[in-house]
Amino acid sequence: MSAPKYLAIINKIELMIRSGEYPEGGKLPTHRELAHQLGTTPITVAKAYKELAEKKLIESFVGRGSFVCNHSQLSDVIKAESREQESNLSILQPCLSSDIVERLNQVFSQVLVRGNDDLFGYAEHTGLLHHREMGAHWARKFGLDVASGEQMVLVNGAQHALSALIECYTQPGDCIAVEALTYPGILSLVNLLGRKAVAIPIDQHGMIPQELDSICRETPIAMVIIVPSHQNPTAATMSVERRQQLADVIHQHQIWLAEDNIYGFLNPSVIPAITNFVPEYGFHITSLSKAISPGLRCGYIKTPDTEYERLAAFIRTTIWLPSPIVFAAASLLIASGEAFDMAKEQRNMAIRRQILAREILGHFEIHAQPDSYHLWLMLPEFWNTDAFTLAAKNKGILVSSASYFCADPRAPVPHAIRLSLMAIKSEPELMVALNKLADLLRKNARFDYTHC
Ligand SMILES: Cc1ncc(COP(=O)(O)O)c(C=O)c1O
Repeated sequence: MSAPKYLAIINKIELMIRSGEYPEGGKLPTHRELAHQLGTTPITVAKAYKELAEKKLIESFVGRGSFVCNHSQLSDVIKAESREQESNLSILQPCLSSDIVERLNQVFSQVLVRGNDDLFGYAEHTGLLHHREMGAHWARKFGLDVASGEQMVLVNGAQHALSALIECYTQPGDCIAVEALTYPGILSLVNLLGRKAVAIPIDQHGMIPQELDSICRETPIAMVIIVPSHQNPTAATMSVERRQQLADVIHQHQIWLAEDNIYGFLNPSVIPAITNFVPEYGFHITSLSKAISPGLRCGYIKTPDTEYERLAAFIRTTIWLPSPIVFAAASLLIASGEAFDMAKEQRNMAIRRQILAREILGHFEIHAQPDSYHLWLMLPEFWNTDAFTLAAKNKGILVSSASYFCADPRAPVPHAIRLSLMAIKSEPELMVALNKLADLLRKNARFDYTHC
């Protein structure tokens, strides 16, 4: 006697999840669709889905459907390592050409030749004042009003800045307002630390101030996290007016602001930070990960005057201080001006690559600034977002599905993917990958479940 049909469906779906054919966070066909494809009844499929949910492999939401459980959201969206034959359009990092790597090696040799006991002992105040001054100098160039390095706290990159601010300035169970589509690292942190993400609607200029205002009136919000320039994933950059309006709402409701300005160096002209308009509530975050190298793990937080001691004590208690050796290298690059040259070179490369991408994908709806590292590509109607991500992976191209960026798990997933244009080192390889995506976008492909 053959096994009941629903068990065969369970085995098949489980295999497809484990092999990555159904990606984490990906949507499964509806009961009716799958039943139709397999020549069975929706009740049999429902029974299979129920068991898969009990095994914590999938989750079902009334009105939205069933999804593969997300066990490693960050590692899934950001593929730091790709196989040799894969083209990685999923990771947002600068182009680490051999020239850049050589310059970084040189600066580290300089540091190690000259290193003194300052660099090898414990230091007060989350780091040496000179390193904090260099952080202030870097952030000032890209629109932050900061009087001196004494207002700066050193951290291990922007991700560490976000986690420190959430832990230090909010409590478990607190609500944190975020852009409705946002960087998954923010969502993972908020969830991991037991806070609740509240999705604030966005438009082509970023978070909508009136929406933040009305949510603050209904719900106690402890903190708002905003990415004001080249937002991840939509690439929106806020005008000065939008920044001022958001600052007014923050001021009115007296909530903390974590302004993650990690892509501010890409703006063609300096745009004032939101923090400038609410210095008493604003923490401004920068890092060298996108302009120079994510491996440096160099980040800087400018604190409100009243908050420096509290945040510095938090950093001291949790990690003592970030490694002075890497900040010494970063400070040499900033002081000599080389860091700004490197940032400009990356920006010029981004401009060239955005032009290439528009030449190849120009028939499709694209959202990006002319100098963004990434673009937000709207898919043709017939392509399901996760199905497209999987089909691209099968062609050796890693892209990021919109489902990873949704702050509200009940909201419909936009029909879009994020493409990073910078991680691939060679432009010809990037063009080959973009052309393959363009071919795929034109195809009306669907999953074939007949082999279930
Ligand atoms: C908006 C945003 N914030 C923070 C980070 C993490 O930056 P870091 O490498 O400095 O921790 C990223 C990385 O993609 C990002 O896009």
